[in-house]
Amino acid sequence: MSVLDRFRLDGRVAIVTGASAGLGVAFAKALAEAGADVALGARREDRLKETKALVEGAGQRAVAVRTDVTEPADCQALVAAAMAEFGRVDILVNNAGIGTAVPATRETPEEFRSVVDLNLNACYWMAQACGRVMKPGSSIVNISSVLGITTAGLPQAAYSASKSGLFGLTRDLAQQWGTRKGIRVNALAPGFFASEMTEQYSPGYLEAQAPRRLLGRTGDPEELAAALIFLASDAGGFVTGQVLTVDGGFSIT
Ligand SMILES: NC(=O)c1ccc[n+]([C@@H]2O[C@H](COP(=O)([O-])OP(=O)(O)OC[C@H]3O[C@@H](n4cnc5c(N)ncnc54)[C@H](OP(=O)(O)O)[C@@H]3O)[C@@H](O)[C@H]2O)c1
Repeated sequence: MSVLDRFRLDGRVAIVTGASAGLGVAFAKALAEAGADVALGARREDRLKETKALVEGAGQRAVAVRTDVTEPADCQALVAAAMAEFGRVDILVNNAGIGTAVPATRETPEEFRSVVDLNLNACYWMAQACGRVMKPGSSIVNISSVLGITTAGLPQAAYSASKSGLFGLTRDLAQQWGTRKGIRVNALAPGFFASEMTEQYSPGYLEAQAPRRLLGRTGDPEELAAALIFLASDAGGFVTGQVLTVDGGFSIT
């Protein structure tokens, strides 16, 4: 097998949550380009159909399932749809997430809980549902954030706590399922990539963070997707329980 063959995903099946927008679309497209069929989950079905067309345009099969990942039954249904359509699940990309910024003294319990419920708890519901059907050689990638590692000037207790929490979830599932099930579990910690989430920043915020971008720019989603393919494929076959930071150096400043 050549080194490039190790990155190929021919015959594999991936599930991507939050596949209706932003990074989830880039992940679905890259997985298809690497040879995987893809099951797509999110709440906006019209947008999922666009991602489905993108996967099919890359020559792979896709199934789009309306999914609210905060509902464990929806997570189970997304995995069941992938099994019914493709007969296996090899890769889970836990990507659905929300970023909020609320000063701690003003944040309501409901606001805090809703972020943790989506960014952390839902990743566990998806991992549980996939862990029940995945065969040895499978890979789970949890999409965390540099804000799990560092701060960036905004009041983001809920977001940061949920993204740091994903590191613990990643470590523990890696140790539970490594030897017993042959499933690798890793996390990606992205820096800034333009998406609907980053459109919400107030004017001047991204400019103020510029000195921390050691490569002098924000990231291209395709650069992040390349790191995902490494973790999802046999190229990353001896990597488990790790956090791979893809942030242009932001977190070391
Ligand atoms: N962009 C960045 O710079 C950056 C940096 C670090 C980490 N991240 C992480 O990367 C992931 C993707 O971020 P993004 O920038 O691509 O955000 P985005 O453009 O806002 O997309 C978020 C995705 O999550 C889905 N989603 C939200 N709530 C959901 C729910 N209850 N059930 C199912 N899907 C749900 C949305 O789809 P629907 O609304 O259709 O449900 C959408 O597809 C997030 O986990 C985020 O924290 C992003």
